[in-house]
Amino acid sequence: MSNIHVAVIGAGSISEMHLKSYQNNPDVVLYAICDLNEERAKAKADKYGIPHVYTDYKKLLADPRIDAVSICTWNNSHAPISIAALEAGKNVLTEKPLCKTVEEALAVEAAVQRSGKVLQVGFVRRYASNTAIVKSFVDNGQLGEIYYAKASCIRRLGNPGGWFSDIERSGGGPLIDVGVHVIDLCWYLMGRPKVKSVSGNAYKKLGNRANVKNLAFYKAADYDASHNTVEDMANAMIRFENGASLLVDVSFTLHAKEDELTVKLYGEKGGAELEPELSIITEKYDTILNLTPQINNLSFDFVAGFQQELNYFIEVCQGTKETLSPVQDGVEMMKILCGIYESSAQGKEIHF
Ligand SMILES: NC(=O)c1ccc[n+]([C@@H]2O[C@H](COP(=O)([O-])OP(=O)(O)OC[C@H]3O[C@@H](n4cnc5c(N)ncnc54)[C@H](O)[C@@H]3O)[C@@H](O)[C@H]2O)c1
Repeated sequence: MSNIHVAVIGAGSISEMHLKSYQNNPDVVLYAICDLNEERAKAKADKYGIPHVYTDYKKLLADPRIDAVSICTWNNSHAPISIAALEAGKNVLTEKPLCKTVEEALAVEAAVQRSGKVLQVGFVRRYASNTAIVKSFVDNGQLGEIYYAKASCIRRLGNPGGWFSDIERSGGGPLIDVGVHVIDLCWYLMGRPKVKSVSGNAYKKLGNRANVKNLAFYKAADYDASHNTVEDMANAMIRFENGASLLVDVSFTLHAKEDELTVKLYGEKGGAELEPELSIITEKYDTILNLTPQINNLSFDFVAGFQQELNYFIEVCQGTKETLSPVQDGVEMMKILCGIYESSAQGKEIHF
């Protein structure tokens, strides 16, 4: 199988997962790295033995030796870098969210179609083992029609600061940052039904609570708590054309007793919980059974999830697989996320 020459654009926190996973893949040549911050790019180049370092992604994309790029930059640059990379003939793995707006998402989708290249959206949880197991139960009809799903991703303290809390660069707060993962996971496992309407609420009540001491949390590479223009928490009810519904709530901070991550699906024949840990719920001979699959990790395994996602992307680049998270799904997710923000701003349900 041919080697794939890869470049990573954005050398901050999450690039580490991309770089490590590529390094572990024998079919990958880690060829170039780019960051606005040259020192940061050089440090990663030294650590991973990457020969080419850039601060301008356009110069990087001009190198014909590069087959594929990972985009690990702020959300506001995902669309322009994706489009430029596709136009330069590269396959693209872009971190979630696909971009900031529906207009940008449609422009990226058009660039994919024009270029004939693949864009994989970094919905890493789709590639996780617990997701694959539930998907096989769903595909084999074990849950029946899934008509309701519920997801929460609650941080009591966890506004990452820097660009994450600057709406111009991020597009929003916990909804677009972590809500995107759990909404996508439910939607994917529900069979990607067409969205009919959304009703959402986004609150800015607590600020970033940078005053709180003695609790650690995820921070942007350039952490700065002085600027915060994103919501603290959001909730939404999403209705689908097939009658199914999805209820979600997410936060960067909330007066909650503890952090909470739950992803639950309810079908006509059975249910499934992916988080906090994998469980399949069914009924046999008039008895309810909670089944616990015997696997290494019942929850999302961050390191393994990235390895599986990036291995998959490399096979997509080699032409042996079709991506599990195509650009079209990134577009649908942007419609849902932006619809929730719009519903909150207008104080009413948004119909598509
Ligand atoms: N899949 C996941 O679970 C997951 C987890 C964390 C972050 N992310 C996503 O990854 C992306 C990056 O997040 P992070 O936590 O690494 O942020 P970060 O702030 O730690 O790093 C971002 C880096 O991108 C660089 N950058 C920004 N614009 C650039 C440009 N135009 N050209 C070159 N470099 C540029 C910055 O200088 C910075 O070093 C975001 O889109 C975020 O949503 C995904």
